[in-house]
Amino acid sequence: MEFETIKFTKEGFVGKLTISRPKALNALNSQVLDELSSAIDQINDDKDLRVLIITGEGRSFVAGADIREMSTLSALEGKEFGNKGLSVFRKVESLKIPTIAAVNGFALGGGCELAMSCDFRIASEKALFGQPETGLGITPGFGGTQRLQRLVGQGYAKYLIYTAENIKADKALQIGLVQEVVSVDELDKRVDELAQKIASNGPIAVRLSKEAINTGAQVDIDSAIKVEEYLFGLSFSTEDQKLGMKAFLEKGKADFQNK
Ligand code: HXC
Repeated sequence: MEFETIKFTKEGFVGKLTISRPKALNALNSQVLDELSSAIDQINDDKDLRVLIITGEGRSFVAGADIREMSTLSALEGKEFGNKGLSVFRKVESLKIPTIAAVNGFALGGGCELAMSCDFRIASEKALFGQPETGLGITPGFGGTQRLQRLVGQGYAKYLIYTAENIKADKALQIGLVQEVVSVDELDKRVDELAQKIASNGPIAVRLSKEAINTGAQVDIDSAIKVEEYLFGLSFSTEDQKLGMKAFLEKGKADFQNK
């Protein structure tokens, strides 16, 4: 994959997408969003990948949508720009394989929203989170008003959005916005370790679990448990189910084949 504002690398079963516009602290302009959209499509088609890590180059994860680009938008153009980001982040969220945000620095506005579109977030001690949009006279527009409240509850979501206050990694951990905080030097190693651990489990089972969680979150509990019932049953149609259970009974560890 050849892009100008993002980088993609692949090692074994793990892919890594790095937002790479370090001079603008990886702010998301239209080009980054278009390239991200195309990269996600290609990743979704890659049958060898089992986990995706998303991170930022340099001292920032993503410092938000590009304020310079947004500053001159008309209402209709603003709506279109919002739609572009919303569509790309929905694609990230709906990616078949699990995604981990490795939050290495600023995750503000669209950056926090990108991190929230991933399945979970591991932050370095230097990470900073927030939805500063109201301080710019706009609302969050890449999913912040919706995903933040689903992750941390309405109280903290409203607190963060109305005050436009940024919070450090330890506070983000306390409110459940991130799952773990590690030192700057440890971040890559820890995220890679988690990615490898996920990749070593049954890949179809992991993907079906993601589908069950994401689909179930949007429907009532009776429909949600039906989704689980169906996908649980489906997992018994895989060779990996046989490998996994056989390995357990023989006191070994399965080498899952993604079949
Ligand atoms: C465009 C940005 C940017 C952004 C930083 N830069 N954030 N450019 N859009 N979101 C640029 C700066 O203009 C500067 O460029 C360079 O990156 C370095 O930034 P500095 O401000 O000099 O760095 P520092 O003093 O360390 O401050 C870092 C910072 C600050 C705290 C992250 O840059 C900041 O507050 N940025 C804006 C954060 C923000 O409000 N994000 C939300 C955006 S709204 P030059 O050329 O001067 O060197 C949003 C809406 C999403 O995300 C939904 C839209 C529909």
